[in-house]
Amino acid sequence: MSDTDDIKQRRIRSFVLRQGRKTASQQQALEQHWPRFGLDPEQALDIPATFARPGADTVLEIGFGNGTSLAQMAEAAPQLNFIGIEVHSPGVGRLLMEIAQRGLENIRIYNHDAIDVLEHCIADNSLAKVQLFFPDPWHKKRHHKRRLVSTALADTLHRKLQADGLWHIATDWEAYAKHCLAVLEPHPGFANTAGAQRFIPRPESRPLTKFEQRGQRLGHGVWDLLYKKV
Ligand SMILES: C[S@@+](CC[C@H](N)C(=O)[O-])C[C@H]1O[C@@H](n2cnc3c(N)ncnc32)[C@H](O)[C@@H]1O
Repeated sequence: MSDTDDIKQRRIRSFVLRQGRKTASQQQALEQHWPRFGLDPEQALDIPATFARPGADTVLEIGFGNGTSLAQMAEAAPQLNFIGIEVHSPGVGRLLMEIAQRGLENIRIYNHDAIDVLEHCIADNSLAKVQLFFPDPWHKKRHHKRRLVSTALADTLHRKLQADGLWHIATDWEAYAKHCLAVLEPHPGFANTAGAQRFIPRPESRPLTKFEQRGQRLGHGVWDLLYKKV
């Protein structure tokens, strides 16, 4: 296959990889802790074996950013397994630092495209909850095809969630909140826990993410959506 064919065949991605530099401590955390907490996107994931405890519920977060809020959630809920997925490696380094500082054992990380990871690594009916906090809104109409929230992702998550599993989305962009409603309200596999076309109040269990803090400074509102697999 020529390079151009290869490019044409590549899927439209929800991210553009930035060249962001890692700090020395993020680089050190990657070298020291990746072998213990990093996961291989080329292999199917055996969740009970990886966390060495069968039966624990598993929460998966797509696009954890710098991971501070994910580390806080994992520390607050040691009975749960947490899987974080992020393409931006400085954020992965930052989360590894948090894991080491907090002495967490219940979290593992992919540094890869979440769409590929869900498709190739995560078993069907294996997740209790999926979190998608402040996904890139891709404001411009010509970029809407890059948005993570789509019927295709809803179909995939419906397969990956266990019975009654939850999908929690938060966004600080009203048009994106409406986009989520437009995608998920008619989806036959999900029910809105707040009632049709409604949002939930900001849950205490969601620590303020880095992105949310920025939105607060700019005076943005926040919309939380919680859907249940039916
Ligand atoms: C606007 S940021 C929000 C980060 C974090 N959730 C927060 O609230 O601070 C969106 C994040 O999603 C990540 N991302 C976008 N598409 C992704 C994908 N397909 N797989 C994994 N991460 C992705 C980006 O790299 C970025 O860090």
